[in-house]
Amino acid sequence: MSAPIQAGAKVALRCEGLHRYLGQGEGRVHVLRGVSFEARSGQVTAIVGPSGCGKSTTLYLLGLLDQPDGGSIWIRDQLMSNSSDLDRTAARCEHIGFVFQFHFLMQEFSALDNVMMPMRKLGRLTEEAMVARAQSLLKDVGLGEKGHRLATQLSGGEQQRVAVARALANQPAIILADEPTGNLDVKNSGLVFDLLTRLAKENGQAVVLVTHNPDIANRCDEIRPMRDGEFVK
Ligand SMILES: Nc1ncnc2c1ncn2[C@@H]1O[C@H](COP(=O)(O)OP(=O)(O)O)[C@@H](O)[C@H]1O
Ligand SMILES: [Mg+2]
Repeated sequence: MSAPIQAGAKVALRCEGLHRYLGQGEGRVHVLRGVSFEARSGQVTAIVGPSGCGKSTTLYLLGLLDQPDGGSIWIRDQLMSNSSDLDRTAARCEHIGFVFQFHFLMQEFSALDNVMMPMRKLGRLTEEAMVARAQSLLKDVGLGEKGHRLATQLSGGEQQRVAVARALANQPAIILADEPTGNLDVKNSGLVFDLLTRLAKENGQAVVLVTHNPDIANRCDEIRPMRDGEFVK
């Protein structure tokens, strides 16, 4: 992907000076040491860096799954880092889609039900509309015929594609992906990455993904290297 960074594109997600300590007592570690970052609509940003440098911790904070010990996070223009659990959960449900390395599908549910899960949580569509949207998303990820299969009846690559469809379910402004292809072979990695980025571009979503794969990082609009709990200047 060679699209230049659009300076004018809307900032969907921004954080400034994030600090995070993890662990207790002697084991307490200063994991994030002033992380500042922004992600723009329609752009794909790769976060890269050695294991343990704080990539997942950063993504969890940006996704409002965890709270920083210092610093600020804005979703669009709304300051979220000081909001209540209830407000952060609501914002996450509406504006953020997650894809993890291990897809975390509900194994005993069908692909269709897994994709409908975030829509049920948001509660804005009728049952009929949710089914139709989930079917259309599964078609987008090449699984139009397999919606009724249980997650356990799908291959690893197929399950990860269901996870992509699920992340897109509520048309979130922001998609966060933590090593989404880390568990897949080359062919499926390419497939999942292409899907994520193509759909995000079409919908004007901001995509932030953590990856160890240089081929994938090089196909993003921007690469942000991290080291020892900070972005490298
Ligand atoms: N609960 C915890 N207690 C202490 N240290 C932790 C805890 N969770 C993560 N860490 C440390 O925080 C650092 C960053 O972790 P992480 O964000 O998962 O790194 P990355 O995703 O870049 O591999 C690591 O050094 C890890 O050991
Ligand atoms: Mg990690």
